Amino acid sequence: MSEEKPEKTGEIILKITDLKKSFGSLTVLKDINVEIKKGETVVLLGKSGTGKSVILQCIIGLLLPTSGTIEVFDTEFINLPEAEKNLIRRRIGFLFQSGALYDSMTVRQNLEFPVRRQPDFKNEDLSEKVNEVLENVSLADAIDKMPSELSGGMKKRISLARTLMLDPEIILYDEPTTGLDPVTSNEISHLILEMQEKLNVTSLIVTHDIPCAKLVANRILVLKDGTIAAEGSYEELKNSDDEFVRGFFEFS
Ligand SMILES: Nc1ncnc2c1ncn2[C@@H]1O[C@H](COP(=O)(O)OP(=O)(O)OP(=O)(O)O)[C@@H](O)[C@H]1O
Ligand SMILES: [Mg+2]
Repeated sequence: MSEEKPEKTGEIILKITDLKKSFGSLTVLKDINVEIKKGETVVLLGKSGTGKSVILQCIIGLLLPTSGTIEVFDTEFINLPEAEKNLIRRRIGFLFQSGALYDSMTVRQNLEFPVRRQPDFKNEDLSEKVNEVLENVSLADAIDKMPSELSGGMKKRISLARTLMLDPEIILYDEPTTGLDPVTSNEISHLILEMQEKLNVTSLIVTHDIPCAKLVANRILVLKDGTIAAEGSYEELKNSDDEFVRGFFEFS
């Protein structure tokens, strides 16, 4: 049975052109060109330490590119004043590799935090929204728990719920299933798929998890030597002529 997803045809919502990033004498990204369409789910594969997290951090402006342009929602992002960057960031959810929940806050407080710190926050009651996003990740019961009381998989789901609090149009996921058992990984992958289908979010997902990529990706990119060395559907890359590319799919 083919699991190929139809190609998305909408407007381009994220465009990375000639992106280069060096740290001192270490050049991590040489020349990255990526276009992502609205509603599309793109998976980024690459060996450890090749710059996948650096790409995500450049997109959200946590790292300043050495050169190149990043257009998000048709706006060149890199050189915007900080206040305008924040308006765009608000529309992008970022799921950190570490999860990054605040240990001293309950789940509810963790979820409310990004909304409360928005400049236009009017002290409105967020209970309904908190319940809605917790329902989305099937963790309504965890609302008053502390992060230390949550398992690794639950923390990932709460992190995803937190990014949903601001109704993001784009979600950047940095290894959403790493460190989880296969069953929990599969649950998270289905959750990502659900977000895509229910909320029509656009997603860029960095992962080493090939079953996850197979389930969620409209398109897969392979990062190698600072450039996108290959791109295609799961089936295309799995059957690639390039041994390096095929290597990612060997055990799938
Ligand atoms: N803020 C930084 N300052 C200096 N070097 C950095 C910084 N961030 C990343 N690097 C370097 O950039 C390279 C790529 O790092 P990155 O975290 O993007 O790898 P990755 O592909 O996400 O790897 P992994 O799969 O292990 O998460 C590494 O050599 C890393 O040491
Ligand atoms: Mg990384």
